[in-house]
Amino acid sequence: MSSSRIVAVFGATGHQGSSVVQRLLKDGTFAPRAITRDPQSEAAVKIKGLGVEVVKADTADKTSVVNALRGAEAVFVVTLSGFPPYSPEKPSEVTVGKAIINAAKEAGVKFIVFSSVPGLTKLSRGKYSKVSIYDDKAEIEEYLKASGIANASLHLGGFAENLWTRNNLKKTDTGFNISVPIYTPTALNAFTWVGHDVGEAVLALFKSYLDPSNFFVSGKAYPVVTANMSYTDLAAMIAKALGKDVTFTTAPPTGIPAYDEMFAAGAEYDGFYTSTPVPNPDLTALGAKFATLEEFVEMEVKKRFGQ
Ligand SMILES: NC(=O)c1ccc[n+]([C@@H]2O[C@H](COP(=O)([O-])OP(=O)(O)OC[C@H]3O[C@@H](n4cnc5c(N)ncnc54)[C@H](OP(=O)(O)O)[C@@H]3O)[C@@H](O)[C@H]2O)c1
Repeated sequence: MSSSRIVAVFGATGHQGSSVVQRLLKDGTFAPRAITRDPQSEAAVKIKGLGVEVVKADTADKTSVVNALRGAEAVFVVTLSGFPPYSPEKPSEVTVGKAIINAAKEAGVKFIVFSSVPGLTKLSRGKYSKVSIYDDKAEIEEYLKASGIANASLHLGGFAENLWTRNNLKKTDTGFNISVPIYTPTALNAFTWVGHDVGEAVLALFKSYLDPSNFFVSGKAYPVVTANMSYTDLAAMIAKALGKDVTFTTAPPTGIPAYDEMFAAGAEYDGFYTSTPVPNPDLTALGAKFATLEEFVEMEVKKRFGQ
């Protein structure tokens, strides 16, 4: 029998949301409700086939969001980065994030987990002030903390899946090369295996927020990092697993200030999260069982690049 504890999942057809839906299904404590703009899309139909409730909503339409959240105890929120010009049809990430939190309040949601990253203007004391894709999430995070709803934010690293979704790992004559703008060979990056570790973190938080005896603290931001590692070391790890030559080269700046400052800041601050041990002890104390990057390479990289 499926659970009566409904939790709504934004971005359920995407990387993070699908990780959450899959993990919740495997666990069984909660009944995930997948939010999509198009319940007839291939991805949405696939989720429905797993026995998941699929609900249509568009974050630009508040009424549809309130309706999608009614009856849900908790919500996983993912917002998408965007650039101006904005309009009612294409609102900014901050507008969308705040509207979802307002809608959750109206619908009586008790707990929100928000997918975020640190604000880089604040972290760098103004040195990197053009990374709206980070600062916007930080602004939503602050709004969430002040909302009066119990909440937690995930601070994610660069998605390990960027190797294929962003084409960071490319075939060469002798094997493969990883290429990322601005990053030096020795700078560390935080890698998050989204498909595994985001679902793991969200489930642990959903299971913990009502339990007064545990370590859950509302309003906290939790780094979710599978490994802090240089791209050179990641290349060596992949080389070992594939038995092929894998190199790392620094790509030139993209010319887009928001991205170039993001890469420069990431390289300067070694991926932002090195002060938190891996795996994050605050989340493992709540029951999360994180993977290693070696497991990611074994399970995900080998099958895509191993032929
Ligand atoms: N790539 C990285 O390394 C990295 C690192 C840290 C943070 N991030 C952040 O991660 C976020 C992207 O997450 P992701 O990769 O999981 O996204 P994704 O795979 O691109 O999925 C986006 C999801 O959002 C849904 N969606 C899009 N517009 C919508 C709307 N108007 N209303 C309702 N749902 C909508 C889509 O569902 P339907 O199409 O079914 O409606 C889809 O499921 C970005 O904000 C990015 O800044 C990325």
